[in-house]
Amino acid sequence: MDIKPIDPVGRSFFAGEVSGIDLTRPLSPQEVEAVHAGMDRFGVLVFHGQKIDDEQQLVFSKSLGPLEQATGDIAAPQDRRVSMDLNDISNLDKNNKVLARDDRRRLFGLGNMLWHSDSSFKDVPAKYSLLSARQIPDADGNTEFADMRAAYDALDDKTKAEVRDMICSHSQIFSRGILGFTDFTDDERVKWAPVRQRLVRKHPRTGRLSLYLSSHAGGIEGWPVPEARAFLRDLTEHATQRQFVYAHQWKPADLVMWDNRVTMHRARRYDHTQVRDMRRTTLTNEVSSLEQAP
Ligand code: OGA
Ligand code: MN
Repeated sequence: MDIKPIDPVGRSFFAGEVSGIDLTRPLSPQEVEAVHAGMDRFGVLVFHGQKIDDEQQLVFSKSLGPLEQATGDIAAPQDRRVSMDLNDISNLDKNNKVLARDDRRRLFGLGNMLWHSDSSFKDVPAKYSLLSARQIPDADGNTEFADMRAAYDALDDKTKAEVRDMICSHSQIFSRGILGFTDFTDDERVKWAPVRQRLVRKHPRTGRLSLYLSSHAGGIEGWPVPEARAFLRDLTEHATQRQFVYAHQWKPADLVMWDNRVTMHRARRYDHTQVRDMRRTTLTNEVSSLEQAP
């Protein structure tokens, strides 16, 4: 197995391309450690040509750590296409028909187009996400990733000191609200009540600090809401400048894996009448970001 920077000139320490590994069979302990080491270094890893099914994706994902459950989407149990171990990142219903333009599930899913970190709206958020492309549109539909370690490092000292111990509140109600999606049931409002997360967190293996931003962040403890949102917007603008971003152009059978502790990502537009079928497994962070202080 070998990992090389995808863009050795522009971002030599962000986004690695992995070769010499076959995800259809179980990994050796050495390969598992090499994947973790690659994630520590690059934050995003790209595996090409991995024709895997759900079961193989689950075996690979579980060899890296415990999974979280897909409790962040709005599909009713009887409408799900995949088990609760997988997030259905597709535009399909359970009969594999493309969702209507105004389907509630599609509109909710458009929240993925805002820069975010997966499950930051959960008390115990996500560690790694693994997204497998099963069917992709003819064009467009990239996924972009931003390096929150580099974004943190590039802050001036005054801002670093100011943000160091800030606590933000995160909820899917905030992120969907940005797009004008407010059609939540009472149960969803209870389930997605805001949770607390640090704005600066420390990676337990590398010791590096990163900005833990997400579209789900809608407030800063002790701050008036409009001031907090304006500041979070400024930080997000800073953190998503092109020099911090890798844009992944999907090929069939790509699997892309990212560390939600050190990156944000977003989906880009595509022709919504074409099929885009992606499946995501997600490793739990096991603890809150509140326990990962600098
Ligand atoms: C996700 C996600 C982006 C995309 O799977 O968590 O945000 O491009 N996906 O589908
Ligand atoms: Mn996501």
